[in-house]
Amino acid sequence: MTEPFDAPAIIAAKRDKHRLSDAQIDWVVDAYTRGVVVPEQMSALAMAILLNGMDRPEIARWTAAMIASGERMDFSSLSRPTADKHSTGGVGDKITLPLAPLVAACGVAVPQLSGRGLGHTGGTLDKLEAIPGWRAALSNEEMLAQLEDVGAVICAAGSGLAPADKKLYALRDVTGTVEAIPLIASSIMSKKIAEGTGALVLDVKVGSGAFMKDLDQARELAETMVALGTDAGVNTVALLTDMATPLGLTAGNALEVAESVEVLAGGGPQDVVDLTLALAREMLAAAGRGDVDPAEALADGRAMDAWRSMISAQGGDADAALPQARETHVVTAPEGGVLTRLDAMAVGLAAWRLGAGRSRPDEAVQAGAGVVMHAKPGDEVAAGAPLLTLHTDTPERFERALEALEGGFDLGDAPAPRTDVVLDRIG
Ligand code: URA
Repeated sequence: MTEPFDAPAIIAAKRDKHRLSDAQIDWVVDAYTRGVVVPEQMSALAMAILLNGMDRPEIARWTAAMIASGERMDFSSLSRPTADKHSTGGVGDKITLPLAPLVAACGVAVPQLSGRGLGHTGGTLDKLEAIPGWRAALSNEEMLAQLEDVGAVICAAGSGLAPADKKLYALRDVTGTVEAIPLIASSIMSKKIAEGTGALVLDVKVGSGAFMKDLDQARELAETMVALGTDAGVNTVALLTDMATPLGLTAGNALEVAESVEVLAGGGPQDVVDLTLALAREMLAAAGRGDVDPAEALADGRAMDAWRSMISAQGGDADAALPQARETHVVTAPEGGVLTRLDAMAVGLAAWRLGAGRSRPDEAVQAGAGVVMHAKPGDEVAAGAPLLTLHTDTPERFERALEALEGGFDLGDAPAPRTDVVLDRIG
């Protein structure tokens, strides 16, 4: 087959700050998926895009080309509307776990295709795999049946969905080209649009533990994704939320499952409850059920019932004891005072080094590893009181985890202002 374009000319066009035409974009994405454009060419193009950007029509076309590389799912046969949530990733971000059953308990189906953690951010599938028996891989038919019966599914995205993104994401991960707004926006939205959800709520994280470190960058990413979703017929809104400090009091797989169950039982840390309810309200409104109050379903146990059904439908035992790490190490406050800063990246890195995350895609994670926080910014801490407890099966990991935490928190005498977890809304 003769190819209509050649990769070096397309790379040079973007290098020289030109727009790419629809036909060039369609070809380069398809040719990369077929292996005609080779990884070194695509990594040069990704770097040119990172440095010189793409305009909105280019991003929309790139997204459409990635969707066209694979299958599209269709939930129109379901008896209820669908809404999904996507977080750009953070530390202690277990919100999907209480959120999916909560929204399902309010009458909206949640098809949540999730990933595994890489680097300092955790992955939803790794967290749920801490539950004995739970399995992440479902066929499209099993997923549809569970959505109809239970109303919520959290499972691994099949290989048929946006395969161009799968290949490109792995390449970006090793070529310093993850942090490009056009590439992040098209990567996330190609998967969500191909998944076929009717409504989508984006949780765009801002702060040290997030891809986007400042509010302006996060706003640009959120606006780009909301425009892509809306133009594709998906009712899309975004919340910009704080990731300067971890969410809740735990970072690590089984530890975060336990905290999520506390939230479903009507307790749990206030920031996790607040964000779960804020996202649930947005999902319900975007799916046309804005009249339903999710706080009631959390308080009266319906969300917990939906959680139990969701876990057991995927082979999990919701009553089984969660795995616990064999060793712990307590970090105490060196002096008394108010905790004025607890850095999300430092805690995320420590949890990762303790064994909660992986540094190669095929590595196993430790279910029990992670960090338990005993105070949040704004809390008073006495000298010598526990600040953090580190958990791992492999105590030789403590030293590097402690290094990650050096400079990761401040104790002071002024009361720290507590920031709301939701910073802004786009849509
Ligand atoms: N998550 C994705 O799915 N893609 C990105 O590019 C970044 C975060």
